[in-house]
Amino acid sequence: MNALDLDTVLLSQDRDCLEILDQTLLPGTVRVLHLSKLEDIWEAIRTLRVRGAPAIGVCAAYALALEASRSRAEDAECFLRDLRTAKDYLATSRPTAVNLFWALERMERTARENARLPIPELKERLFAEAHRIREEDVQISRNIGRIGLGLLHHGDGILTHCNAGTLATAKYGTATAPIYLALEQGWQDLRVYCDETRPLLQGARLTAFEMQAAGVDTILLCDNMASLLMKRGKVNIIFVGCDRVARNGDAANKIGTSGVAILARHYGIPFYVCAPSSTIDMSIADGDGIPIEERAAEEVTEMWYKERMAPEGVKVFNPAFDVTDHSLITGIITEKGLCRAPYEDAFRSLGIE
Ligand code: MRU
Repeated sequence: MNALDLDTVLLSQDRDCLEILDQTLLPGTVRVLHLSKLEDIWEAIRTLRVRGAPAIGVCAAYALALEASRSRAEDAECFLRDLRTAKDYLATSRPTAVNLFWALERMERTARENARLPIPELKERLFAEAHRIREEDVQISRNIGRIGLGLLHHGDGILTHCNAGTLATAKYGTATAPIYLALEQGWQDLRVYCDETRPLLQGARLTAFEMQAAGVDTILLCDNMASLLMKRGKVNIIFVGCDRVARNGDAANKIGTSGVAILARHYGIPFYVCAPSSTIDMSIADGDGIPIEERAAEEVTEMWYKERMAPEGVKVFNPAFDVTDHSLITGIITEKGLCRAPYEDAFRSLGIE
């Protein structure tokens, strides 16, 4: 099975629920959840059944459209008030990926701009906007892939961290998009190294699954093995995703990413962040302003298969993301173009405001 055939999140055909691929069961089980209640969709985002910044944004947009479609409000004011309540609730599901807030804002703006329409028409506009966000995401990934492919050479070893793959987006992923596009063009000689990505193993469970299923030469490693791999000259380039980029180019991504960047600098390996422009948050000056999610201690004290492997009661440090300093980033690949430092100028020159 090719992971490109799996949809992370869809609206059901009769538009009464979201169909969410439960990523917590991968790679062993492919199960699609049919979720209609807003609370259940919130839980699916919170527990990483659907995860990855762009996919979270798409999911939230559909969730809001679905909830709005059930509104009994008879005038626009009440409709917008109900919509805002649902929006504020969804916004509490996860704090770091800015695509969540970006998608929710975009949906609310659509409702406001069309508030003069009859309510049934307004509901249709929201479904249409959610579809648009999803379709645009596919194109964004392909554009990132095209630019990333231009940085690759035959025979390259590519290291990636976490999962910024097709499972984290509507299709193709961001960090994996250059690899999928290389495959489309018949390249057979790339190697992909997947950091397993403790504590929740997105690299092992998701990226290794995706890349192997796509037919790429895939090598899985524990996070603490990356230095030796780089020292041996196996890694030519690094592509990672991101959850939020500040305007100076500091980039938050899955915990462990900044360590990979520091190693890459030491060994002289180019380190690229793949970022849809919706992930760039120009309202935040630098990485210190990016909220870092802290998650339950059990994610560290129990392995993925829920077997205790740390003493009861031990204190745990479990941030889900870290921030890579802009000075360690070789370039930020957006769908609009490749940005190099100084990043604020580069973003603005591409119309990212
Ligand atoms: O906690 P997760 O699994 O949602 O973290 C995902 C990542 O860190 C991804 O690299 C990021 O969201 C970019 S996905 C294209």
